[in-house]
Amino acid sequence: MGSVPGPAAGTTDAQTPPTPPPTVAGRGNGGAVPAPPGHVALIMDGNGRWAMARGLPRAAGHNAGAEAVRRCVQAAIKRGVRYLTLYAFSSENWRRTPDEVADLTSLLRYYLRHKVAELSREGVRIRIIGDLSRFDVEVRAEAKRAEDATAANRRLTLVLALSYGGRADIMQAAKHVALAVRDGTLDPDRLDEALFGRFLLTADLPDPDLIIRTSGECRLSNFLLWQSAYAELVFLDTLWPDFNEQHFDAALDMFARRERRFGARPTL
Ligand code: FPP
Repeated sequence: MGSVPGPAAGTTDAQTPPTPPPTVAGRGNGGAVPAPPGHVALIMDGNGRWAMARGLPRAAGHNAGAEAVRRCVQAAIKRGVRYLTLYAFSSENWRRTPDEVADLTSLLRYYLRHKVAELSREGVRIRIIGDLSRFDVEVRAEAKRAEDATAANRRLTLVLALSYGGRADIMQAAKHVALAVRDGTLDPDRLDEALFGRFLLTADLPDPDLIIRTSGECRLSNFLLWQSAYAELVFLDTLWPDFNEQHFDAALDMFARRERRFGARPTL
């Protein structure tokens, strides 16, 4: 993995099971509706199938997918979501053809270079998780610039998972825990879930409340494995390039109807 955060100082909401949402005033009908999930994470799937259905190259699907990212960020801001995590490039995506990896990489570079100012004006903070060391120096530089330029923004934290794998994240955390124990800086008796979570790449982020996957596939594909312990999962048939505000709202409505018990007994 890239640089390792180690235990993050002063984190408060990270790695704690999400709390059930409070209710807020309804959208115009006087009723009470649940507050939006604080952290929504997305597995954006179906770019290739979207392109194939139109007789287009896969790159066209990824380009259309980038437009859907824009719509999704706008919808998240509009609904008051505080954290939005997008699985934009998995550690397994390096196994795609060199041409497709190049297409995806240049799209990410373009997005980081040209869209960050606009996002920043809207109060979006960008955070990147994953093994950035596998990207070229330009992508790494753009990623750092995007994080630095938006660090003070608070409206929405947009987390881009790039060259990210959930197992790799848990592995690097375990290695750093082992090193800290060996060096005598960590007492193994003090290790609990909260402390372990502070060695993960997401140490400064709350766990996701809702994970949405598009394209009809129903699996996590190595995404936020530790962090998804209490997440609600919503699977939509829509292909990612077609994703819009209505799909986002539909997923939020499904989330609102779920009863989250975090292992406790149901209320009778
Ligand atoms: C999965 O579709 C999607 C990806 C591998 C990449 C996601 C990238 C984007 C949405 C565009 C760029 C992102 C940003 C943040 C600008 P797939 O290719 O696996 O589709 P398939 O399963 O139909 O083949």
